[in-house]
Amino acid sequence: MTIAQEQSLLGLAGKVALITGGGAGIGRATAELFAQAGMRVAVAEIDPERAANVRRTLEDAGCDCLVSVADVRDGPQVVALLDDIATRFARLDVLVNNVGDFLGIKGEFVDSHEDQWQALYEINLRHIFHVTRAAIPLMQRSGDGGSIINLSTVEAFRGIPLTVVYSAFNAAITGFTQSLAVELGQYGIRVNAIAPETTNSAQITATPRVPPENRENLKRWFPIGRFGEGSDSAGAALFLASDLLSGWVSGTTVFVDGGALAAGAWMRMPNDDWTHLPIISRDGYTPRSAKE
Ligand SMILES: NC(=O)c1ccc[n+]([C@@H]2O[C@H](COP(=O)([O-])OP(=O)(O)OC[C@H]3O[C@@H](n4cnc5c(N)ncnc54)[C@H](O)[C@@H]3O)[C@@H](O)[C@H]2O)c1
Repeated sequence: MTIAQEQSLLGLAGKVALITGGGAGIGRATAELFAQAGMRVAVAEIDPERAANVRRTLEDAGCDCLVSVADVRDGPQVVALLDDIATRFARLDVLVNNVGDFLGIKGEFVDSHEDQWQALYEINLRHIFHVTRAAIPLMQRSGDGGSIINLSTVEAFRGIPLTVVYSAFNAAITGFTQSLAVELGQYGIRVNAIAPETTNSAQITATPRVPPENRENLKRWFPIGRFGEGSDSAGAALFLASDLLSGWVSGTTVFVDGGALAAGAWMRMPNDDWTHLPIISRDGYTPRSAKE
């Protein structure tokens, strides 16, 4: 199949996407995949070096791109960003609200501080309000529907110790996604979320932290037997971006988790027996102690 034939299956060629935090990890993989699908790509990235790097990669791939160094937590910068996109492309079809971070804040909730809650709110939820509110009028003016994709986490769908506030703000993304989907359906704009499990990225070093002799244990955690890669979530974003593939999918969450959530407490042991008893106390990756 030629590239043109593949692109026509997706129906995304020439469409315009904005990806926040597109300079690393899942955001960067998404920017590159969207470019491969023939889309025009805008990236908002706070880190100038990462911004320059992704700009080079997208340009080398022949992508018509606009890479802005911007902090999406800053309302006026977000308004200026959307003005720039309107001036450059005169439309917006897909928005990927990808920025999010636990900010290395790990500890029992009882010891947490209000400045930490505020920082976690700003990096995980508030910017989604700013960017989405600024993007909707341009999507509506484009007159061709649209797709809004919010990056959440599996930790919004199960209890996780020591990162309670991060989990709470990500759970709020579910409510935002569902309610906005109801509101924007009348304009043909779909709103969905992606909830990844642990994924190798700039923020999370997963695979290299597990000593090779302990990697067998990964299949106890993930039925698919490995950590995620940026390209795994990027694939889900491509599906959700394409009206041809997901035109009737709105208000929902796609789990990109190697089956971890579905497995629940049932885990395959290295000897291929099954258990729901937590008999490994340290898995070599996250000894989850507040004291470490
Ligand atoms: N990696 C994982 O294991 C994992 C798991 C679950 C959910 N997620 C979610 O997926 C999303 C992407 O995670 P990732 O691990 O790929 O992240 P990452 O840290 O690898 O990349 C995020 C990018 O966003 C940029 N950025 C940070 N703050 C910004 C700001 N204020 N304005 C503009 N750009 C900013 C960073 O410089 C970086 O380039 C996040 O929402 C995260 O919470 C990640």
